[in-house]
Amino acid sequence: MDLFNSLVWLPFLLLLPLLLIFKKKTQHVNKELKNLPPSPPKVPIIGNLHQLGALPHSSLSQLASKYGPLMLLHLGRIPVLIVSSADAAKEVLKVNDLACCSRPKLTGVGRLSYNYIDVAFSPYNEYWRELRKLCVLEIFSVKRVKSFRFVREDEVGSLMDFISQSASSSPTDPVNLTEKVFAFSGSIIFRTAYGKSFRGSEFDRRKFYELIHDAETVAGAFCYDECFPGFGWIVDWISGHKGRVDRVFRKLDTLFQQLIEDHRKPERTKHEDDIIDVMLGIQKKQIEEHGHAWITKNHIKAILLGFWSSGDVRSGGVSSTTNGSVNAWAIGRDPKYWKNPEEFSPDRFIEDTMDSKVQRFELLSFGGGRRGCPGMYMGTVASEHLLANLLYCFDWALPAGTKEADVNMEEQTGQCLTLSKKTPLLLVPISQASH
Ligand SMILES: *[C@@H]1O[C@H](CO)[C@@H](O)[C@H](O)[C@H]1NC(C)=O
Ligand SMILES: *[C@@H]1O[C@H](CO)[C@@H](O)[C@H](O)[C@H]1NC(C)=O
Repeated sequence: MDLFNSLVWLPFLLLLPLLLIFKKKTQHVNKELKNLPPSPPKVPIIGNLHQLGALPHSSLSQLASKYGPLMLLHLGRIPVLIVSSADAAKEVLKVNDLACCSRPKLTGVGRLSYNYIDVAFSPYNEYWRELRKLCVLEIFSVKRVKSFRFVREDEVGSLMDFISQSASSSPTDPVNLTEKVFAFSGSIIFRTAYGKSFRGSEFDRRKFYELIHDAETVAGAFCYDECFPGFGWIVDWISGHKGRVDRVFRKLDTLFQQLIEDHRKPERTKHEDDIIDVMLGIQKKQIEEHGHAWITKNHIKAILLGFWSSGDVRSGGVSSTTNGSVNAWAIGRDPKYWKNPEEFSPDRFIEDTMDSKVQRFELLSFGGGRRGCPGMYMGTVASEHLLANLLYCFDWALPAGTKEADVNMEEQTGQCLTLSKKTPLLLVPISQASH
């Protein structure tokens, strides 16, 4: 089976999971696309799949420099519009957003989002509008984000303690910042959403990360059924994709079930309402007011999972709307909107703020338009808090024997919804107090 996978399907498997493909068909879109945008030449059956390479966001951006900011690719049998400029993204995400609002229905995602009922993947409809409203008003509101300040302070504090200790006990040893920052955001999400701390024996942190990683991987993995309707499912079944999705789903479901049950226990003590408390509260209120609640246990679970997945969906490379994908990676590096895009220059946001970049669709880490990420504020507040402390409390040096030019800034290839740095970031902390 491994041989079969690696030899015959290697080019396919390397392809990109970030690429999401659409299902929803609207007559409106069909009519508009009579006047088709340019397409790179395609091969029978696989279409343009072979042109995507191991880093699809970068292959797509190369194709776009040749074929333009709006081009039509065929992924297997499915036509997908690739959007690679802020103006075109605005057109697709804002101007035409009603026609484009449904996310693609990926099989892995379908299973993991409890049949597309979470806010990232639900099709655009009345239910989605209600859900989105609930997220904006109750879950990711400024007030709610403020109420979790104690979690952020606590987690930043303990990371700073760890680094100080490392700086004083072994001053030349680097800290694995990739690992620490990942653990930090994991703890924050875990505590805000589920009201639990990792630092106990109840949850095994490593196992939980593995599970989240698996979930992202299967959600983003290339799925043949999508690109080759009719026979693709056979490949998914043989390659074990379907089995993997089911396994990850069952594990997550068990975990969320357990968390929800814990929250229902009357003897539970809590510091502050976490997201599960909030959702259970809304459910209770709906029952009191209408005799029934449209928020079911599955909705709660889907939203809990969405905390990990939906915030990340756009952060990496390519995000999608109906019959189109927006290459956020390419737009975020377009010299038309960014002066010296490859240069690390946080000062660029002093005059032209992040918010206005987002408004103009030049920065799409959180998506844009109607389906932009509702958790943007929650995400940026935690990152700023951490970054400010890392920079204020310490100076940072490269490990002995390495030069700036040695730091590998490449992205990781792999089947995941998000992009990450290929090699971990290792830096030596120097306490400000020591000089
Ligand atoms: C959108 O995608 C579906 C399949 O997912 C396809 O049947 C349809 O033709 C596409 N629409 C356009 C306008 O390309
Ligand atoms: C740093 O952390 C990452 C993520 O946990 C891990 O994969 C990597 O092996 C670590 N590297 C070192 C040198 O400790």
